[in-house]
Amino acid sequence: MKHAASIGDLARRARRRLPGFAFGFLDGGSGEEGGLRRNREGLEAVRLAPRVCRGGKPVTEASLFDQIHGQPFGAAPVGMGNLMWPGADLAVARQAARLKFPVVASTVASTALEAIAEAAEGQAWFQLYCSRQERINRDLLARAWAAGIRVLVVTVDVPMAGDRRRDVRNRFILPFRPGPRFLAQVASCPLWALAMLRSGSPGFPNLARYGSEVQGQTLAAFIMAQIKDDLTWEDLRGLRDLWRGKLVIKGVLNAADARGALDLGADGIWVSNHGGRQLDSAPSSVEALAAIRAELGSEAVLIMDGGIRSGEDVIRAGARGADFVFAGRAFYYGAAAGGEAGAARAADILAADVKRTLTQIGCPSWRDLDQGYLWG
Ligand SMILES: Cc1cc2nc3c(=O)[nH]c(=O)nc-3n(C[C@H](O)[C@H](O)[C@H](O)COP(=O)(O)O)c2cc1C
Repeated sequence: MKHAASIGDLARRARRRLPGFAFGFLDGGSGEEGGLRRNREGLEAVRLAPRVCRGGKPVTEASLFDQIHGQPFGAAPVGMGNLMWPGADLAVARQAARLKFPVVASTVASTALEAIAEAAEGQAWFQLYCSRQERINRDLLARAWAAGIRVLVVTVDVPMAGDRRRDVRNRFILPFRPGPRFLAQVASCPLWALAMLRSGSPGFPNLARYGSEVQGQTLAAFIMAQIKDDLTWEDLRGLRDLWRGKLVIKGVLNAADARGALDLGADGIWVSNHGGRQLDSAPSSVEALAAIRAELGSEAVLIMDGGIRSGEDVIRAGARGADFVFAGRAFYYGAAAGGEAGAARAADILAADVKRTLTQIGCPSWRDLDQGYLWG
């Protein structure tokens, strides 16, 4: 793994190791994948202006919600992560424990939230897809709290499943049906196939106890069958009343919605276009971040994800106004490329690059990063 010099290298290795449907599920976006591309273009367009002769070593610590994290980035919620490699979710959670950054356990993770919380040693958050059934929401939140989780992320940008064309083309339909095309993809990746055979195909342990069953659907359709697709601000108010910890609303792309979330008592706004997996024509997350920061001023806690492939991207997002940054695919490209060692390599690449970039631009700490470091 030491020879992987970038997240891109890990992604290329992941593409070679995974069957097409698994890599497509991780790597792909919705529609013509415009939102996916735009996330990268938005970040690449951010130029940093280095300051020189400032001496000293930068501090990468970032404080958020009364906690000091070792890094200004964390691991975003990823459903069915163990499809990339058995144990991928726990491998990512262990990096969170090692480098002291938050990892967000998804409602539709392939590892139980309790196990992720244990592996993350106090660094786990929980992401809720609001269920149609109130009792399920209550139970999930009670379980998260009992597992020591104190930050709840409610994802609000899935009113309908995204148009995941790669999943359709690759016959990625759950539960796995061994049709010829599917089997051909598996057969071309014997290492992955053997690993999956040993571990069993990944499921949805957080939901299993509520009797949710996967029946001939794409994963996106399965998720839609579980979640409340007619979510309202009133529902969010109900969750605010239910949850004693910090509340973050994920999937916000405009200032009016951000303000609405803060008004109902959210502690943070997670600016995201769901990694380009929902609305094809959505703006890039970093563009939306800058616009929301300009409207809301410096007080609002703004978290951002989408397209992060290096520590330099983390710093770009910070200069554009993010208080904290998350990456989704980066960690799972790592796990797919090399299991635990690959997840560790992804985390180390991001961490080393954050430090290098702060040093290069002469910024003493994440806290000091602001628009003054933007070029032009
Ligand atoms: C395979 C995959 C599964 C995802 N599952 C979830 C999920 O269960 N809940 C959620 O809120 N977001 C989910 N997301 C979106 C991520 O949390 C995050 O917003 C996105 O991946 C960020 O973009 P990036 O992958 O370019 O870093 C998923 C993303 C991917 C790639």
